[in-house]
Amino acid sequence: MSYFCADHLRNHTKMEDKEVNSQDQILPVDGLGWSYVDGVLHCDGMSLEDLRMSLKREYGHQSSPAHVYSLSTLFANVKKYTEALGPLGKRGVLSYSLKANNNLRVVEALRQAGVTMATTVSGNEILMAMKAGFAPTNIIYNGTGKRRWEVELAIRHRVLLNIDSEFDARLIMGVAKETGVMARCLVRLNPDLEAHTHPYMATALADSKFGVEVQQLEKVLQIVRTGEIEGEEEHVDIEGLHIHVGSAVSRTQVFADMASVAARTLHKIRERGWPRASLINLGGGLNIRLSGGHGKGEEDSDNLATPQKLVGAVLPLLPEGTTLLLEPGRSLVATAGVLMTEVLGTKTNGEVTFLVVDAAMTEVIRPALYGAHHPVTHVTVPSDQERTEVDVVGPVCESGDFLARRCQLHPRLPTGTAVVVWATGAYCSSMASSYNMRPHALEVMVRAPDLYTVVRRPGNFEDLISCYQ
Ligand code: LLP
Repeated sequence: MSYFCADHLRNHTKMEDKEVNSQDQILPVDGLGWSYVDGVLHCDGMSLEDLRMSLKREYGHQSSPAHVYSLSTLFANVKKYTEALGPLGKRGVLSYSLKANNNLRVVEALRQAGVTMATTVSGNEILMAMKAGFAPTNIIYNGTGKRRWEVELAIRHRVLLNIDSEFDARLIMGVAKETGVMARCLVRLNPDLEAHTHPYMATALADSKFGVEVQQLEKVLQIVRTGEIEGEEEHVDIEGLHIHVGSAVSRTQVFADMASVAARTLHKIRERGWPRASLINLGGGLNIRLSGGHGKGEEDSDNLATPQKLVGAVLPLLPEGTTLLLEPGRSLVATAGVLMTEVLGTKTNGEVTFLVVDAAMTEVIRPALYGAHHPVTHVTVPSDQERTEVDVVGPVCESGDFLARRCQLHPRLPTGTAVVVWATGAYCSSMASSYNMRPHALEVMVRAPDLYTVVRRPGNFEDLISCYQ
C-alpha cells in the first residue's frame, strides 16, 4: 500500500467554515465524509480536485476513472450497526459481506472499525477475508454451488458453512467425514418471503435458487445427522440458521417477518438433535439512502429501514439466548465510495445530449443490470447556474453503457472536467469487468484531509494479457 501525504493537500479549508449555496451542493448520499467546500467536493476534508492533480502526477492517464473511498464514512457506517447491536452485547454480531467490495484495504478498514466476522461466497473470498485479518472461525461461507476444494478449505479452517440444499448437505457431510474435522454449519432457509426489491435482488421467493425450502429442512437435517446410515458418529454441528431474503430492502417489516420464521426454525433444529443451536443469521440487505431519482427497487423514503430500526423490530421476536448475526454489504460500503471520472466530450443525437466520460459500465454495471440510479454531480460546481439534462455515458461499445440518465449538469463541461458518480462503494469495483480490454480502475482511500493511500493501483495492458500462454 503506498501512502501519500502531499504538501499541497495540507492547507485545506475547514469544511464547517464554508457556506453551501447551490442546489448542486446538496449531497446525493447521507455520508459523513462528503461535503462541498467553496463549490468543490471534498472527501474527508480533502479536495477532490487536489486529489485528482496528485493522482495525475503519479499515474498520468491511468489516474482516471478512480474509485475514491472515504475512511470516515466506512467507520460511521460500521458504527450505526455496532450501536444498534450494542444492547445484545456479545450476542449481537456484525459480519461484512465481502462481495459488496473486496478491496483488501476496504475489508481491513471495516475490521478495524469494529466488524468482527466476514461473510464469503467463494474459496477466494475466504482466503481474502483471512488475508484481511479475520480469524477463520469468524468467517461464514455461503453459496448455492460450492466446489469441493472450497468446502474442504472451509471445513479444515473451521469456517462456518451455510448448507444450501440436499446436495450441498451431502457434499459437506462427505468432506467432513473424510477430513475427520467436524463441519460447523448453519442451514440457509428459503422462507418464501417477498423482499419488495428488484427481481434480480430477491433471493427467498418460492422459485429462487437460494436455500432450503421449509418442507425440505427435515431431510437436510437427516442427511447431516447420520449421513443416511444409522448409528454413525456426527460429523456436522448445526449452530443455527441463515435467512437472506434479498438486497436493497427498504422495509423494516421484511426483517421482522424473517425473524419470526427464524425463531420457529431454530426451535425445530434444537428439537432434531442440536439443542445448543443458537445463532440466527438474518443476512444483509439493508438499502441505502439516495436522493435524485431511483432505479427499480431503490425506494427513497423517510421510512427506510436502518440498522437501529431493524434490530428494534427483530429483537422481541428472537428466542431467549439467541445470537443475532447481521451480514450487510451495501449499507456498510456503498456511501463510502464515489467514482471520479473525466469528461471526454459532449454530443447531441436526436433529442438527447450525451456527456461522454472515461468511466463506463465496466466500472459501474448497476444502471445497466438493475436500472439502478447513481446520481452524477460536478466535482467543482460551475459558477454560472446554467444546467441541462444529459445522459452520462462511457466509451464502451454497448447502448446499455450509461452511468446515469437525465442528470442536471452544466451543458458545456470542457474535456478533462471531473464529475463523480455517487454511492459506488458497493457492487461496483467488485462487479467490474474488463470488457473492451478496459483495465481495472485505480482505487484510493482518503484517510485524513491531507492523507490518502492508493489501495489498488490502476490495471494496465500487461495485467490484461498476462494470463495468456
Ligand atoms: N448475505 C447474503 C447471503 C447475500 O447473498 C448478500 C448479497 C448479502 C448478505 C449482502 O447483501 P447487502 O447488504 O449488500 O444487500 N449486485 C447487486 C446486489 C447483490 C447482492 C447479493 N447478495 C447490486 O449491485 O445491487
